[in-house]
Amino acid sequence: MRRADAAHDGLRLPAWIRRWVYLAGLACLLTGAGWLAFEYGVRIEGPFGPEAHPLQRTWLIAHGAAAMVALWAFGLLWLAHVRRGWPRRRNRGSGGFMVGCVLALAASGWGLYYLGSEALRPWLSAFHWVLGFLAALALPLHIALGRRHRAWRERQDTARR
Ligand code: HEM
Ligand code: HEM
Repeated sequence: MRRADAAHDGLRLPAWIRRWVYLAGLACLLTGAGWLAFEYGVRIEGPFGPEAHPLQRTWLIAHGAAAMVALWAFGLLWLAHVRRGWPRRRNRGSGGFMVGCVLALAASGWGLYYLGSEALRPWLSAFHWVLGFLAALALPLHIALGRRHRAWRERQDTARR
């Protein structure tokens, strides 16, 4: 097997895709955390009492942009990584969890943007950002488990030869 095919078989990502996944994930995390810091830590005195700092909106605008790039990066992963990995049962548990996180983040993000319900908003918001932090913790774990799985498969292959 050619080296590139061997890497592909192990579900390793081409470096440029991996970089976009890390960059978009980090951008979502930092801009989301920036918004939270202003929501819960910064208030300015307005004509009618304390109100949000104007930069809080800037964080959200940046977050919206990062989210779109993240969904594009997810699209890059879909065929080569997710669709190929699933039937081969490689690292399925943590991989499936990652996919679930991205889908739930996209759905709750859509809800935050389009659903006007004032009663639902605080719950949707908390669900979305708690899941966001959880996904950020789960990604390194997913990668570590995937690499361990690959090392184990390589040892099995060597033992069989
Ligand atoms: C949102 C969903 C997912 C993201 C963001 C993601 C991201 C990543 C990244 C960045 C790596 C490290 C790649 C490298 O070292 O080149 C990786 C490794 C891996 N992932 Fe995923 N993944 C996702 C879903 C899945 C799914 C659904 C599966 C399988 C059913 C899977 C299986 C694997 C395996 C086996 C590895 C180890 C590859 C190796 O080093 O040989 N992933 N993943
Ligand atoms: C695939 C990843 C993600 C997508 C598609 C996504 C999408 C969105 C969307 C569409 C909004 C609504 C923007 C608006 O109302 O103008 C939003 C808000 C937000 N997101 Fe994300 N997001 C993602 C990841 C994350 C992560 C990792 C965090 C972690 C901190 C996070 C934290 C937040 C916060 C704090 C808000 C503001 C909540 C509110 O308005 O009450 N998001 N996100």
